Order: sequence, then C-alpha cells, then structure tokens
Amino acid sequence: MTPNPSTKQETFWTGDFGRHYTDRNSRHLEEWNQFYLDNWGHTKLAMNERFLGHLDREARILEVGCNTGMQLMGLQENGFQHLYGVDIQPYAVEKAKEFTQHVNIVQGSGLDLPFKDGFFDVVGTNGVLIHISPDDLPRVMAEMVRCSKRYIWGFEYYTPEITTIKYRDNVGYAWKGDYARLFLEQLPGQLRLVQQEFFPYVNPAELGNTDCMYLLEKVGA
Ligand SMILES: C[S@@+](CC[C@H](N)C(=O)[O-])C[C@H]1O[C@@H](n2cnc3c(N)ncnc32)[C@H](O)[C@@H]1O
Repeated sequence: MTPNPSTKQETFWTGDFGRHYTDRNSRHLEEWNQFYLDNWGHTKLAMNERFLGHLDREARILEVGCNTGMQLMGLQENGFQHLYGVDIQPYAVEKAKEFTQHVNIVQGSGLDLPFKDGFFDVVGTNGVLIHISPDDLPRVMAEMVRCSKRYIWGFEYYTPEITTIKYRDNVGYAWKGDYARLFLEQLPGQLRLVQQEFFPYVNPAELGNTDCMYLLEKVGA
C-alpha cells in the first residue's frame, strides 16, 4: 500500500504522528464508549442511534478517516452490517483490518475517494474534517457527497466560524467550524439539513468546547 500523501496534513497523518495516534487509539468497545460518556455524557452508541436509528440496518455506510475502525465497530454494535472504512494511513488500515470483523477497510484519501458515485447510503466522518485544511474542504466534501446516494453524517468540533486550533502542540493540522453549514454552502441546492445537535463537553478539562453531530440528506434522494 503506497500512502501517496498529497497535502501537508496527509503527510502528517501518514508519518510518525499518525502512527502514534493509531497506537493510542483504543480497540476495546467498552473503553471507547466510556470515553464518550466521560467527554459528552452520552455513549457514542446512543448518539449514533439518535441520528441513524431510523435507517434500515442493511444500509451501506462509509466512514472517511476510520483509523483503527472503532467507530465502525460501534456501528456494528448498533446493528449495521454493511460497513466500509477508508483511511490515508497504511498503519491504521492494517490495525483496522486486525481489529474489525466483516468490515471493508481500504487505504485511500478523502480527497479522492476510491468508490463509485452513489455507492453508499451514508458517508460520514468523526473527528476528521477538523484535520482537513479549509482549502481542501470543498474537495473532500464534494467527494463525500459524490459517493453518497442519500446521507452525509458527521461529528466534529464546532465553532460558528472556521478557527485554527493547536493539535497536541502542532499548528496547521486542526480546525473547528460549522461543518454542516459548510457542506450546505459548498454544495448549494444539493443538500438539506435533517438533524443537528450540539454536544458540549462535560469533561472538566474540555469545558467550554462543543462538538456537533449533523445529518444532511441529498435533495431529491
Ligand atoms: C482524529 S482521527 C479520527 C479517527 C476515527 N474517525 C475516530 O473517530 O476514532 C483522524 C483520522 O483521519 C485520517 N485522515 C486524515 N486525513 C485524511 C484524509 N485526507 N483521507 C483519509 N483519512 C484521513 C487519519 O489518518 C486518522 O486516522
């Protein structure tokens, strides 16, 4: 697998930083759920249900930036069976293949998704758009919309306007913003907002910060 990073951020994730992140990322569902409870006061399984609970469990779902596959394992726990993950990092892809069962994991970039138009019912990200440079967001968002037949789903750090933040002392690798609004602005007339919910942190170390989960639907889908 050749990573072939095309941006400074992709180089960062395919290098040592990404590898260390991957090694820190839990493979245990209980720990992962506890992480969500500690940070937001809800399990991720409960958050997922609030947004995807109405979907047929046969829905085909892609996670862009899946790392070790924790989110996909969570979706499996929610009952979904047709799950796909893509990540720029070969090391994370290797680990995701090791940790998950019956999940399709491939190496690739959100800038150029290796899937056909409309192949998925849902294309989503979890803490990934925040690591895409604002200059590259239109391309990643367009790719996600291209590959989705119906829904775009996300959970990302929220601020009303795009703001640069430090990420573990690194500058130029993380932002926060209103990603649902940016999707709507980048692809005018193509999407509508179905649901949006703010999840303020309850973890005392993160008080004042908020994440946002959103579900967008392709118009006419
Ligand atoms: C903060 S982690 C989030 C991992 C996972 N979504 C989760 O919630 O546990 C960001 C992930 O996105 C991946 N990534 C970053 N830029 C990417 C890109 N352009 N295309 C695909 N994956 C990317 C990184 O390698 C990393 O695994």
